[in-house]
Amino acid sequence: MQDLTNDFNPNLPTSIDRENDGILRMADWSDWHDEYENEGSELNARKRAVQAQVVAVVDQCPPGPVTIVSICGGQGREVIGALEGHERRADVRGRIVELDTKNAAFARAWAQKVQLGNLEVLAGDASLAESYQGLAAVDLVVISGVFGHINNADRMRLIGFLRQICRKGACVVWTSVSWGDGKIESLRKHFLDNMFEEESFETLAGKFAFTIAKNRYVGEPVPFEPHAKFFSFGSSRDNPDEAAQ
Ligand SMILES: C[S@@+](CC[C@H](N)C(=O)[O-])C[C@H]1O[C@@H](n2cnc3c(N)ncnc32)[C@H](O)[C@@H]1O
Repeated sequence: MQDLTNDFNPNLPTSIDRENDGILRMADWSDWHDEYENEGSELNARKRAVQAQVVAVVDQCPPGPVTIVSICGGQGREVIGALEGHERRADVRGRIVELDTKNAAFARAWAQKVQLGNLEVLAGDASLAESYQGLAAVDLVVISGVFGHINNADRMRLIGFLRQICRKGACVVWTSVSWGDGKIESLRKHFLDNMFEEESFETLAGKFAFTIAKNRYVGEPVPFEPHAKFFSFGSSRDNPDEAAQ
């Protein structure tokens, strides 16, 4: 397998090593998930924090269907992993959108196995509005491991798009890294500017200092535009100041 680690940032290490938790691996998005098996890793801690938020949101949803979207959802660790034993899993529907076909197949098989069969797994491009077509108004959006990979303009477009799929009162659970230089504050402000009120924000201990936030949409849904594209995964690499995690 070719290691592309240094293609996007010459300051990153030349090989995969434990010091870097495997988190910087970019060549194979399926293998990247192996780090979740490392119980002590920052990635594992991030997953657990996101899962806790996912469970809390589902617990709080009124009786009836709960529509969830996971953007660049990988193997479904945050959503399926959180809800595989949840008493309301029969209520859960929605879509995990993941480009890597191996990851998508993993998530699809897992969802079926744990009776989350109404959670569709789309092996497709999460940067395209058409990938979200046909969904009911969304109660929960999960965006984990994405913002660090896209530049500021793409972050703004993606957050703006969320207003097209979220119901009023929907939650967005999202992660990032603490970049320094005010970038995380700018990301938080983009949410506020789009009427996503911040309900929680935490920073995990460790070198990557992952952040996990939950925002609630207090605006009205805006019309769905099916032909939009709102990010290019990896666009943060164009700017050396915008490190990818
Ligand atoms: C850092 S991983 C995060 C995966 C998952 N959200 C998690 O936190 O475990 C980024 C994921 O984005 C996927 N990805 C990259 N570009 C994508 C795109 N345009 N559409 C959908 N998924 C994409 C990759 O295949 C990879 O699984």
